[in-house]
Amino acid sequence: MFETFLNLEESATVAINSLAQEKKAKGERVYNLSAGEPMLSPHPAVAKVASIAIAEGKTLYPPVAGIPPLRQASAQWLNTTYQTNYQTANTLITCGGKFGIFAACQAFLKPDDEVLIPAPYWVSYPAIVKLFGGKPITVMGDETNNWKVSALELEKLATPKTKMLILNNAGNPTGSLYARTELAEIVSLAKARGWMIISDEVYSGLSYDGEFISLGSFPEITDNLILVQSFSKHFAMTGWRVGMIFAPEYAIKILTKIQGQSTTGTSSISQYAALSALENATEIQTQVCAEMRSRRDALVAELNTFSKEKISAPASGLYLFFPLKILGVENITSAEFCLKILRDANIALVPGSAFGCEGYARASFGAPVEELKDAVSALKKYLKM
Ligand SMILES: Cc1ncc(COP(=O)(O)O)c(C=O)c1O
Repeated sequence: MFETFLNLEESATVAINSLAQEKKAKGERVYNLSAGEPMLSPHPAVAKVASIAIAEGKTLYPPVAGIPPLRQASAQWLNTTYQTNYQTANTLITCGGKFGIFAACQAFLKPDDEVLIPAPYWVSYPAIVKLFGGKPITVMGDETNNWKVSALELEKLATPKTKMLILNNAGNPTGSLYARTELAEIVSLAKARGWMIISDEVYSGLSYDGEFISLGSFPEITDNLILVQSFSKHFAMTGWRVGMIFAPEYAIKILTKIQGQSTTGTSSISQYAALSALENATEIQTQVCAEMRSRRDALVAELNTFSKEKISAPASGLYLFFPLKILGVENITSAEFCLKILRDANIALVPGSAFGCEGYARASFGAPVEELKDAVSALKKYLKM
């Protein structure tokens, strides 16, 4: 049993980010293109409500499933934004979206269950699945179709042991957005096979080109759907640690029990702050999305001044995922290259291998434009391009 944990890989994004932070702490200038967060100050209303919550002593343990007004407002927000139909009883407030995924795998996977994971994937999916004895089955996406997988490709790798699909739309690291027709085919396959779907939609509000479609808007799958949302990305509240799960009532009851025996729920103060974020949702999401779009455009434009092939802007998310060869980098693994430029030139990128895709790297555009420009100049200088 202990071996499972000893062999568990450290999250590569967290590892690179930690080394970058270590260098920063020593006073070195680090160009951070690795962080998975919009670097923005909290909206004033959110910050104010948090300090009022502290002053008023709203600092005791929260109800395990989350404070009722936040559960209710979260369901309303999802329903009106993405044409879903969830009630308060279908809603659980978690310590970030990550814990929601963790608890869902703990609750619904048995040892040897196979879990389909489209790649390039978010680094934590395979590790979480393995932690609970499941077997991650990687389904490589089609680069010419923005790395998306089709129902047919999923079906090819399915076996009688397949129990779950973890679908990430909008995608990290790819920035892809699935069309309704593509999702409809995946939904009908999952329904026919009785798979549970964990739909990780934490980047939904950072959609720039094209429409984001929630799997929650397909009533035929809601009985087997765990929909993961978060305040981290589109509300720019990463450190507050507030996520949401939308699921059938039976699943919410199980997940609440797991939460009750593990985290006890997320911070009361953060929950009041998140409620205020929902009260100002349109304004905050519009601002965060517009700011991230301009950071995306700036990073793409800077890299395209010297890359060997043009990088196109991702439709959603916070990342550019590009082949290293366009920077003239070859004959070295992505992990070796990323470690080397962090050590030698203080530039933090995440290797494609962490996402199940060798030969690529991920650059985040969560940092302010000036920081992105400085990082790209440092990269250009290092590569002598
Ligand atoms: C695809 C994806 N899902 C989930 C998460 C978890 O986010 P949080 O726990 O901050 O809500 C992240 C964070 O980087 C992510 O990239």
